[in-house]
Amino acid sequence: MKITIAYATKTGTTAKAAAALAQALEAWGFETKAFDLATQKPDMHADAFVLGGSIRIGQWRKAARAFARANETALLAKPLALFVCRCGQEALPALLAAQIGQPLVAHAAWTGCLGGEMDVAQQKGFDRWIVRMIQKSEAGNTMATPGIVDENVAACADALAAALNG
Ligand SMILES: Cc1cc2nc3c(=O)[nH]c(=O)nc-3n(C[C@H](O)[C@H](O)[C@H](O)COP(=O)(O)O)c2cc1C
Repeated sequence: MKITIAYATKTGTTAKAAAALAQALEAWGFETKAFDLATQKPDMHADAFVLGGSIRIGQWRKAARAFARANETALLAKPLALFVCRCGQEALPALLAAQIGQPLVAHAAWTGCLGGEMDVAQQKGFDRWIVRMIQKSEAGNTMATPGIVDENVAACADALAAALNG
């Protein structure tokens, strides 16, 4: 069975998470293909979908939101997992439901965070300034930068496998 993993990243964390998830799903015996929404058009003939993106200033990446809205019917028709990469702790299903609608979030077999990084050296311009401000602020103390969280990658792969095999 084929799984399309569509993702949107700015500095690469989400691409790493997508690659880790692809590996975990392949260990289950699935065929996966990852598509960077900035440059590639995802294969919509898959048996299941994963949609991932990072969060910046409270917003799931625009390309992930646009993809979710444009392909809602197709995404609702097959098993789905939704993931974010981020450093904050806001309640996730509510955050995503506000941005892509409740039906997709309710349909997803797994919704969660696969990791987060905040390396000031990776940022440019305004983003660099924001990261410096966050790191100096009280909010900086609540930001987590665990890298890719293997345990969550495994949980996401297991949930999608259960939805596909069940
Ligand atoms: C300018 C900026 C704003 C951010 N805003 C948020 C935020 O509102 N909430 C959050 O949880 N993480 C936030 N983060 C953390 C990112 O989600 C994190 O750096 C993530 O690993 C980026 O993934 P990417 O490289 O795939 O884009 C922010 C990071 C930057 C650089």
